[in-house]
Amino acid sequence: MDWQQILKNKKQTFNWSDKVPERKIIDQILDELHTYCPSKQNNVPYSIEVLDWSNPAERNEIFKNTWCDSNTPEDRRNPQVLAPYLFIWRSRDVGNPTDNSYSQLEIGLASMFVVASAVNYGLDIGFCGCHNQDDIILSVGVGYAGVKNGGKFWNPISQKEEWSPGIVPGNDTNDGQVKPNKSDYIKFH
Ligand SMILES: Cc1cc2nc3c(=O)[nH]c(=O)nc-3n(C[C@H](O)[C@H](O)[C@H](O)COP(=O)(O)O)c2cc1C
Repeated sequence: MDWQQILKNKKQTFNWSDKVPERKIIDQILDELHTYCPSKQNNVPYSIEVLDWSNPAERNEIFKNTWCDSNTPEDRRNPQVLAPYLFIWRSRDVGNPTDNSYSQLEIGLASMFVVASAVNYGLDIGFCGCHNQDDIILSVGVGYAGVKNGGKFWNPISQKEEWSPGIVPGNDTNDGQVKPNKSDYIKFH
């Protein structure tokens, strides 16, 4: 896919279609990450766990342990982690504190590799950094978007359908969050 199209198609996704991506696409994404994602001294100071829905109790527990607005039992939580596939990053001990200290930074690189690759193969993605489980640094849900502008998702904790945010302006959880001006953080000298 054309790079500009990848950029446009990459949208934070909260609502998933039941259609499950072919496993060979997921394997291809992981092969691309393993082959091409840079890692300082090739240490790879992180682990990746890829979950499908073969263990619903485990997936529901991960969702239960996310938070959105309030971190209360009634909170909507982060339905992006209910995607057909969930990539979970944790720190991995690579032998010494200095090398380990790069893990968050490298998880950022690796997650964007997964995101760009997934979008290239026509998939949708949703980041989640709001996990109450301390060991999970970041997760990315991967699948096909369901209803794009909002729509309801089945909340396995409240056991009812709830509204998910959409991805178009006016309906996105992140609408109120605006990046600083380019000139605030990018400088030429
Ligand atoms: C490291 C990281 C963690 C994120 N965690 C969350 C999260 O917990 N919940 C959420 O709704 N969005 C999360 N996001 C999504 C961002 O808010 C989103 O990328 C941003 O709003 C841009 O959306 P867009 O890609 O649709 O333009 C996260 C993004 C990144 C890069």
